[in-house]
Amino acid sequence: MKKLIIEGGNDISGTIKISGAKNSIVALIPASILTNGKCVITNAPDISDVRILLDTMRTLGSEITFENETITIDNRNVKNKKISEEYASKLRASYYFMGSLIGKYHHAEIAYPGGCVIGSRPIDYHINSFKKMGINIVENNAEYIMDVDKINGSHIYFDFPSVGATINVILASTLASGTTVIENAAKEPEITNIASFLNSMGAHIYGAGTSTITIEGVETLGDGYVETIPDRIEAGTYIIIGALIGDNLKIDNIIEKHLESVLYKLKEAGVKYKIDDQSIIISKTNSLKPINIKTAVYPGFPTDLGQPMSTLLTQCAGESIFEETIYENRLRHIPHLNSMGANIKAFERTAIINGPTPLRGRKVKATDLRAGASMLVAGLIAEGRTEISNIEHLLRGYERIVDKLSSVGVNIRLIDDEK
Ligand code: EPU
Repeated sequence: MKKLIIEGGNDISGTIKISGAKNSIVALIPASILTNGKCVITNAPDISDVRILLDTMRTLGSEITFENETITIDNRNVKNKKISEEYASKLRASYYFMGSLIGKYHHAEIAYPGGCVIGSRPIDYHINSFKKMGINIVENNAEYIMDVDKINGSHIYFDFPSVGATINVILASTLASGTTVIENAAKEPEITNIASFLNSMGAHIYGAGTSTITIEGVETLGDGYVETIPDRIEAGTYIIIGALIGDNLKIDNIIEKHLESVLYKLKEAGVKYKIDDQSIIISKTNSLKPINIKTAVYPGFPTDLGQPMSTLLTQCAGESIFEETIYENRLRHIPHLNSMGANIKAFERTAIINGPTPLRGRKVKATDLRAGASMLVAGLIAEGRTEISNIEHLLRGYERIVDKLSSVGVNIRLIDDEK
């Protein structure tokens, strides 16, 4: 295990370039299984989830190169094999192999997915949709075994617009017979990115980014190309950091539209910034106003930014309320923030934050990926040294975070936990 050491309290300036989106690339890679052609994915982040997925693809016979932020995948020799626990349990997104393997081979064997412990995270919408598509699924020894003779187009309705289930149904229906319609589909930009990739291969997917997506099944797919969208959660995290300790900090390679809810809330808190098409320049705001944050599906305030944002709320003058609506366990970082000097009362999914409170460096833990981001932001504004353990969680979602922050003046290093 590794830990991150931060000497906090400095202002930062310079430029940080945002990487490709984790939650896109983790679906783009398994999506490539659907074609025997060659796929090129640009702006790919070099994060551990990507390495694990590429290794998983290699076990199936994919030939892969990954250099200069570009992944090429040649699936000419791919064979359908079981995705074992060794690979599947390391990340949530391994469940996308369910959709792509069943869609292509009509048989799939996949061990249970892993992922951050931020709630019970069932995958019943995925399973029920697959069943609706005529796919037989049995669970045996912590594995899903899926079979179908032929996938027919169907009408799918989600009780909740799940990102993962929307992508999985798209993957399973791209090569189906007939047309599939998904109602109450997730509208996150990552869905649009996956649909563009599949359409570049010859798929017929319409309406991605809206709540009704139509997939007309096609018989085969060819070569594919896609540019991974910038990571809106990584961008949001650095924007939050800029609002606290930025000195004309430039954050480059962003899509403003994807950050609207975050920027709206920061403006409400009194944060000032200059933005153009692809970058934002932000400086610290000395008198932040209290605001209320309620997470929601896109275009609402993203659940993945709730935790880092809660650290900013500790610096607002007055009472702010943070309410998480997507997951049950997104407040496990609060005791750690309080140990650094925050004044937060947490009840189930709601945190009442009274500020401003100066934070002091402490030994804290990244209980999950975005909790790690919350601790990182706290460490950057705290007086003295903060040590964040279990930092593997954070490294899963933020490419080259130590390099990026060092380059703008942060005193930060990664060390082995024993030291
Ligand atoms: N849900 C169900 N049943 C299902 C699927 C989802 O009840 O079959 C519930 C979940 O338990 C959760 C809610 O629906 O309460 C939303 O889940 P969703 O399926 O939308 O999330 P996901 O696909 O599992 C992705 C990201 C998450 C991000 C959410 C929401 C990946 C690999 N993960 O998860 O990212 O929080 O969408 O935007 O794409 C992160 O990056 O830190 C992270 C957790």
